[in-house]
Amino acid sequence: MARPWNFSAGPSALPEAVLQQAAAEMLDWNGSGMSVMEMSHRGKHFVQICDTAESDLRELLGVPPDYAVMFMQGGGLGENAIVPMNLIGRRGYAAADFVVTGHWSTRSHKEAGRYGDAQIAATSGVATVIDGREQAPFSWVPPVDSWNVRPEAAYLHLCSNETIHGVEFMDWPDMAALGAPDVPLVVDASSHFLSRPMDVTRAGLMFAGAQKNAGPAGVTMVVARRDLLGKALPICPSAFDYANVAAEHSRYNTPPAYAIYIAGLVFKWIKAQGGVAAMEAANRAKADLLYGYLDSTAFYRNPVQASVRSRMNVPFVLRDESLNDAFLQGAEAAGLMQLKGHKSVGGMRASIYNAMPLEGVQALVDYLREFERRYG
Ligand SMILES: Cc1ncc(COP(=O)(O)O)c(C=O)c1O
Repeated sequence: MARPWNFSAGPSALPEAVLQQAAAEMLDWNGSGMSVMEMSHRGKHFVQICDTAESDLRELLGVPPDYAVMFMQGGGLGENAIVPMNLIGRRGYAAADFVVTGHWSTRSHKEAGRYGDAQIAATSGVATVIDGREQAPFSWVPPVDSWNVRPEAAYLHLCSNETIHGVEFMDWPDMAALGAPDVPLVVDASSHFLSRPMDVTRAGLMFAGAQKNAGPAGVTMVVARRDLLGKALPICPSAFDYANVAAEHSRYNTPPAYAIYIAGLVFKWIKAQGGVAAMEAANRAKADLLYGYLDSTAFYRNPVQASVRSRMNVPFVLRDESLNDAFLQGAEAAGLMQLKGHKSVGGMRASIYNAMPLEGVQALVDYLREFERRYG
C-alpha cells in the first residue's frame, strides 16, 4: 500500500518502521504472549518498556539526573493547568509571567489566570516593522531584552514552537542574563520536541504532547527540575502532582501504556537515525528546501520573520486565496494530505516533522511549482 505524504500538524505521520514493528508485536510483545495493551502497568514487561522509554529519552535529550522525566496524560492543554497547579504557588504566592507569541502561548496564559496572577512579560500580538519589513501579529518574536519578567514570578512560560503561526525559538533564554535567575523557564515544546538538540537545563520544566514528533496522542512528556516539585497547590489532583508521578516513575496511576510503548519505539528509531543532531540536519534540509521555494516566487508567501521561521510547521498563503480549494483538491489528488491551515489563520500549513522524509517535501515543492505553472 502506498502511503500518502501526511503534512498534518498532529496527530501526524509516524515513522513507517515504527508502525511495522508495532504491527509485528501486536499480539505478542517480546515472547510475553500478550499485546502491550493487555499488560499490567506494574508487571515486569511494561515496567521494562516504560523504563527503557525513559532512559532512551534521557539519552536523546541529555537529561541530567536532577531532572525528572515523566509520561503523563492530559496533553498540552492539560499541562496548561497542571503546570500552574504545580508551580505557581512555589514561592508562597501565585504569580507567573508569559511570553505570548501565538495561539498556544495565548491559551497557556489564559488558563494560568485561573490559578493566579498571570502577566504578559512580552507579546508579539501586534504588528511591527523588522528590517524594513512589515510583520503581522504573531509572525515575530519580541527581542529577549524587551521582556519584562518579574523577578518574583514563580516561572516564565513560553511556547518554543507555535504550531499554528509557525514561529520557533531557535534558542531559549538564559534567565540569569535576563535578571531573573530565580525564575525557572517553562517551555511548551510540543511541536518541535526531539527535532533538534535542546539544552534542557535552560528550562526548569518542559513539556510536549507526543502526537507530533514522538508518538501517538495520549501521552505527554514532562521534563522537570526535581527541586521545583513538591510544591503543588492543594487543589492539584494527586494524579497530576509531579512529585507523585516522578516518585512512581510515571506509574502513580495507570499511565497511557500503549502510547508510551509507541513513543519508546520512536525514541529507538531516532537513536538509530543518529539522534537529535541527525534529526536537526534532516529537518534543516527539509525546511530550507520548502522556504527556499516559497521565497522564490510571489505566488506563495510565508509571513514569518526569517530568523524565527519554524522548521516544523510552515504556514503559507496563496497570493490569490480564491484558488485555495483548487490547491487543496489538487494536493490530495497528488497524495499530499492535510495541507489546510488552522481555521484561526486560514491559508495552508505544511507540518514537516521528523517522520517526514526529504522526499515528501520535494513532492510538495514539485506540486507547488506545478500548481503555480497552471494557475500563476
Ligand atoms: C504547541 C502546542 N501546545 C499545546 C497544544 C495542545 O495540545 P493537546 O491537543 O495535546 O492538548 C498543541 C496542539 O497542537 C500545540 O501545538
